[in-house]
Amino acid sequence: MGRQTGLELVDHRYYGANGPPHEFWTELRRESPVHRCVARRYPPFWAITKHEDICAISKDPERFLSSHGIVLLRDDEPSGRDEGIGALRTIIEMDPPEHRSYRKVASPWFTPRAMQKIEETVAASARDLVDQLAGEGECDFAIDVATAHPLRILSKVLGVPRESEPKILELTNQLFAKDDPELQRPGEDREKAVQEMGLEIFNLFSGIIEDRRANPQDDLASLLANAKVNGELMGPMETFGYYLITFTAGHDTTKNALVNGMKALVEHPDELEKLKRDPSLINSAVEEIVRWTSPVNYMMRTAAVDVELRGQKIAKDDRVLLFYASANRDEEVFDAPFEFRVDRDPNPHLGFGIGEHFCLGSHLARRSQRALFSELIRRLEWVEPAGEPRWIHSSFIVGLKNYPLRYRIRKDG
Ligand code: HEM
Repeated sequence: MGRQTGLELVDHRYYGANGPPHEFWTELRRESPVHRCVARRYPPFWAITKHEDICAISKDPERFLSSHGIVLLRDDEPSGRDEGIGALRTIIEMDPPEHRSYRKVASPWFTPRAMQKIEETVAASARDLVDQLAGEGECDFAIDVATAHPLRILSKVLGVPRESEPKILELTNQLFAKDDPELQRPGEDREKAVQEMGLEIFNLFSGIIEDRRANPQDDLASLLANAKVNGELMGPMETFGYYLITFTAGHDTTKNALVNGMKALVEHPDELEKLKRDPSLINSAVEEIVRWTSPVNYMMRTAAVDVELRGQKIAKDDRVLLFYASANRDEEVFDAPFEFRVDRDPNPHLGFGIGEHFCLGSHLARRSQRALFSELIRRLEWVEPAGEPRWIHSSFIVGLKNYPLRYRIRKDG
């Protein structure tokens, strides 16, 4: 497949069939770390595969813009940027100075100290899910556990009522796995289907915003509904945008870290054993899971001016793809990068990005994973695969849609 063209770096079908193209990235890091790709059906782009270069670009938001989009769209894919959910304004697609004003709105809520407020929600979700599995049995870890945990936590902080959880999950799947034939929204007219989905999200969040304006509570939903930027209430597009980005950026990423993290533990029984013997390794284990799984495969930037990088001339308006999954295996930064080690230290991975747009939800993501893996590992007696794992057809948020496991988990108490 398209070695020269770089098609396998972005083709959702490649990821669906094989998972991430690590061999190709290794070759690129060695031979062409700033690589120009001209893949059929895609606009040309630069593949950036080294840790150092991704750091430099991410810390230079004046020259590398996020506001022109963060995902590489196919030539035939409508950008939808001016209508429906495409017209929503989210911080991940803003540049400074505007980005900083909007990021400040929610950042106090996401600090490690503030996170203590939701400790009980996170722990209760982990306990309930592991309780449901307790005994000897089989499950699809992707669906029964990894999807359910972040869904419950995010629904709680964003004020989504329990009965609407399945709807919001369906909408999130359709948004992120829009190229996966099993997960995408049914409908002949894809553009219309996406617009319909936008309207459903809009209606769901409208109700919540109205309620939190009338009856503010101590949650993120109320903070966003009543937030001011430069002294004025945020506009509707920005408020909806914030709800949507928190939900979508928080859900599938955490889910894929959980499911692919579990796969890594099952496939490395010595590491699983190490963690069981010494549960205090949970923090470094979670960092290693984020490095190993890199749920956000890449983010795109657009050059604002001509820039030279490693002798390559990146022209103004060129698209640049930052492959975090490749940076996280960079031999110049990580000792034995293709080994999964729950006690890896140091671990300067880029799984949460770096610089201007560094993941706002990183502490929540860490906490959610820590709670689930700690509970699971404390009670897990044995585990083995019970079928073939299946990759999602997506090159942007990467992970498994099915992971059948057979296990024995101790009942608590
Ligand atoms: C393991 C889970 C997660 C991973 C791997 C992850 C990864 C990332 C990455 C790589 C970025 C950088 C984007 C860029 O530079 O363009 C990012 C940004 C962001 N993430 Fe996460 N994320 C995770 C969980 C979460 C959670 C739980 C939330 C919120 C509930 C969240 C909210 C955000 C937001 C709002 C941004 C945009 C920040 C900005 O533009 O300033 N993420 N995330």
